[in-house]
Amino acid sequence: MNEVALPTLTSLCKRRGFIFQSSEIYGGLKSCYDFGPLGVELKRNIANRWWRHMVNSRDDVVGLDASIMMHPDVWRASGHLAGFSDPLVDCNNCKERFRADKAPKIEVGQQVTYKNAKKETITAVASRDYVCPVCGGCDLSPERQFNLMFRTHLGPVDYTDDIVKRILELPEVNKENLREVIDSVVSQNAIYLRPETAQAMFVQFLNVLNTTSQKVPFGIAQIGKSFRNEIITEKFIFRTAEFEQMEMEYFIPPGEQDKYLDYWSTERLKWWREIANTPENFQKRAHEPEELAHYASGCYDIEYMYPWGFDELEGVASRTDYDLKKHTEHSGVKLQYFDPNRPHPETGKLGYSYTPYVIEPAAGLTRGVLAYLCDSYRSEAKTDAEGKTTERVYLKLHPEIAPIKAAILPLTKKDGLPEVAQQIFAILLKKGINAKCDENSSIGKRYAKHDEIGTPVCVTIDHDTLSDNAVTVRDRDTMQQTRVDIDQWVEEFAG
Ligand code: GAP
Repeated sequence: MNEVALPTLTSLCKRRGFIFQSSEIYGGLKSCYDFGPLGVELKRNIANRWWRHMVNSRDDVVGLDASIMMHPDVWRASGHLAGFSDPLVDCNNCKERFRADKAPKIEVGQQVTYKNAKKETITAVASRDYVCPVCGGCDLSPERQFNLMFRTHLGPVDYTDDIVKRILELPEVNKENLREVIDSVVSQNAIYLRPETAQAMFVQFLNVLNTTSQKVPFGIAQIGKSFRNEIITEKFIFRTAEFEQMEMEYFIPPGEQDKYLDYWSTERLKWWREIANTPENFQKRAHEPEELAHYASGCYDIEYMYPWGFDELEGVASRTDYDLKKHTEHSGVKLQYFDPNRPHPETGKLGYSYTPYVIEPAAGLTRGVLAYLCDSYRSEAKTDAEGKTTERVYLKLHPEIAPIKAAILPLTKKDGLPEVAQQIFAILLKKGINAKCDENSSIGKRYAKHDEIGTPVCVTIDHDTLSDNAVTVRDRDTMQQTRVDIDQWVEEFAG
C-alpha cells in the first residue's frame, strides 16, 4: 500500500520547491504546474535515466526531438482529428461538466435521490447507466464528443476579418449557419498541439531509416511535451493539460508482435522497479479486449499504487502496422522496409518490402515524478537526546534521481570553513555531480531540510576539518554519522 496522502505530498512539493501551481499569483491556472528548482532536477534525472537505458545503452534504438506542432494532416491520418475525443456531459442540476465514461455507474431505471440548488430532495428514475459525479443527479444533457487536441494557428492569420466577411455574405444568419461559417474558417488554417509524441516517430520513419544503419527490428525514441485538453484534470500532476512523455516506437517484422510485446512490457516494469523502494507497488496489467484502442492488438499498462490505488503510469501497446499504413495512405509516401533476406510470400524469392509492425512503450514522465515522490515519502517519529519526540520527514529517493546528490555544510560561515566547502563542491562538480553548498541556519535545520528534499548525504565541515582534513558524513536514511578523510570520501563517493 502507499501511505502518503496526496495533500501532504502536494504541500511538501510547494514548501520545498519541487512543484508550484502555474501562474499562482493570478489565482493559478487549473491543471497546469511548474517544476521548481528541485522538481526540474528530479524530472531531468528520471528523463536522463530513461534516455540512457532506452537509447544510449542500445544499438537498436535512436533518438528524435521533433517539433510539437506538426502538419494538420498528421492528425487526420492518425485518426486523432476524428476520434481523439471524450464523451462530455453537463449536469442540468449542479452545472458540473464531466466525462460520461468516468462517472459513477448505476443501473438504467434505478431510482436516484439527490439535492437541487435549494437543498430540496429530488427523486427521479435514471435513463442512463451513470449519474453526475458531484451531485449524484440524473438530469443530464445529451453526450457530445469533445476533441482533446488544442487547436491553434500558424502564421499571420486573423480569423476575425474572414469570419465577418463570410457572415456578411450570408443571405440570412441563424445559429446553425453561423456555427458552420466560424468552424469552416477556423478549421482552414488550424494546426494542433501534439497530444502524443508518437506520431513524429512514424512520420520520420524513412528519414531515420535512411540516415542510420538501423535494420528492423529497431526503435525511435523521444522525450517531450504533449498537450490534451482533458475534461477532468485531477490528482495533482497525475492528469494535466500539459505533460511530458517518454515514448519509443519499436519497428518489428509482422508476426513477431507477441514476442516483442512480452519483452518490452517486462523490460519496462523492471526499469521502473529497479530504483523503487517498494517494487511491488509497480505492476503490469493486461488490457481487457474492450479496453484496447482501435489500432492495438494487445496492450499492457504498467501501473503504480498511487495514494488512491493502482493506476496507469505507462502503456505498452502493440500498434500493429496501423500508423505507418495510415501515413502511407494520406501522404502517398510508402513507409516500408526492404529486407533483402526475407523471402517474398508469393514468389519465395529473397528480398521483400513490408510495412513493419510496432510495439510502443509510452511512459508519462510527469507521472513518473509523482510515482517516485510517493514511493520515497517517509514520515517517522524521532526522539532527541532530551526525550522530545518530533516527526522526521524524508524522501528516500534513489541517489540516481535525487535532485541534489550531496549537501556540503560548513558548520559556521567563517574561519575558512565555507572555503573548504567550496573546494569539495568544485571537485564534485568536475566529476559531474550536482552537489550544493549550504551555509544558512542551524546544522539541525539544514539536516532536516536535506532529508525532506531527498539529499542522500550531508557532508559537514567543522573546525577540526582544518587540521585533520576530515569531515562528518551523515546518511539520510539511517542518520548515521561517520568521520572520514575528505580525499577518501570523494574517491568513494565520486569514483
Ligand atoms: N502514444 C501513446 C499514448 O500517448 P497514452 O496511454 O495516452 O498513450 C501514455 O499516454 C502515457 O502518457 C500514459 O501512460 C500517462 O503516463 C501519460 N499521460 C497521458 N495523458 C496524460 C495527462 N493528461 N497528464 C499526465 N500524463 C499523461
